[in-house]
Amino acid sequence: MIAVTGATGQIGGRVARGLAAAGVPQRLVVRDANRAPDLERADVRVATYTDAEALRHAFDGAQALFFVSAAEDAHRLDQHRTVVEAAAAAGVERVVYTSFLNASPTCTFTFGRDHFATEQMLEQGGFATTFLRDSFYLDILPEFVTDGALRGPAGTGKVGAVARADVADVALATLLDESHAGRSHDLTGPEALSFGQIADRLGVEFVDETIEQAYASREGFGAPAWMVDGWVSTYTAIAAGELDVVTDAVESITGRAPRTLEDVVSGR
Ligand SMILES: NC(=O)c1ccc[n+]([C@@H]2O[C@H](COP(=O)([O-])OP(=O)(O)OC[C@H]3O[C@@H](n4cnc5c(N)ncnc54)[C@H](OP(=O)(O)O)[C@@H]3O)[C@@H](O)[C@H]2O)c1
Repeated sequence: MIAVTGATGQIGGRVARGLAAAGVPQRLVVRDANRAPDLERADVRVATYTDAEALRHAFDGAQALFFVSAAEDAHRLDQHRTVVEAAAAAGVERVVYTSFLNASPTCTFTFGRDHFATEQMLEQGGFATTFLRDSFYLDILPEFVTDGALRGPAGTGKVGAVARADVADVALATLLDESHAGRSHDLTGPEALSFGQIADRLGVEFVDETIEQAYASREGFGAPAWMVDGWVSTYTAIAAGELDVVTDAVESITGRAPRTLEDVVSGR
């Protein structure tokens, strides 16, 4: 039996539907049972990443866990530690985790540092791990458009952004095939694009802000400093070349070419 977190979300939801289609028994671990997908051979348990006891109960009897990283939060790492400890206490053997491309303690994208620390926790927990080191999601790029423009200090840096559906399809394949244990996969789309090119493809303008302008233009959202650092470092990480990576992992694992920006925008 496989425990699936994030099943009310995009990636976890697609993975859960894929497991159901493959006839694999699963446990959907959700925050709100009313929003859990209704699937064959799936039972539902409610747990948030802050509730150690509920998580341990939710993971009980699971051999493997699909661990979707938590929504950005000042305490995300504590939440991830709670998930890892609960999985160990419940006897989970194998974990597939949605990490981040080139995650490191010093990566420019500040939220990427949590992913590195989470990988370390999982390794120290003695699990057989598969880390899906995802580039930025193609799906979120159109959401960055404000007032007809993409704005941020990305310069001419490029990003090999990947479709969430491809991340989910890789996750499903690795959950179904234990030979992925002990491996990391760098997941990207088919091409590296600059923000200028992305803006062209979306039919909007690209405004290459300075770092100061980026902070100033986001001030009005009233977000905490750690959140704004995360937003701005999305662009500075690209400017620094840390996302200028294209791999063949999606195709070699799923057997299908990775989706393009146009595929994602048109819902393919
Ligand atoms: N690489 C990138 O560009 C990028 C961009 C955005 C996000 N991410 C990361 O990738 C993850 C998956 O992406 P997605 O598109 O599938 O996100 P999504 O559609 O927002 O789904 C996230 C799922 O995780 C659950 N979740 C979040 N925080 C949780 C917590 N503290 N405790 C329990 N469950 C929690 C959500 O539950 P609810 O439905 O109850 O909220 C939801 O089911 C995100 O959670 C985020 O960490 C990466």
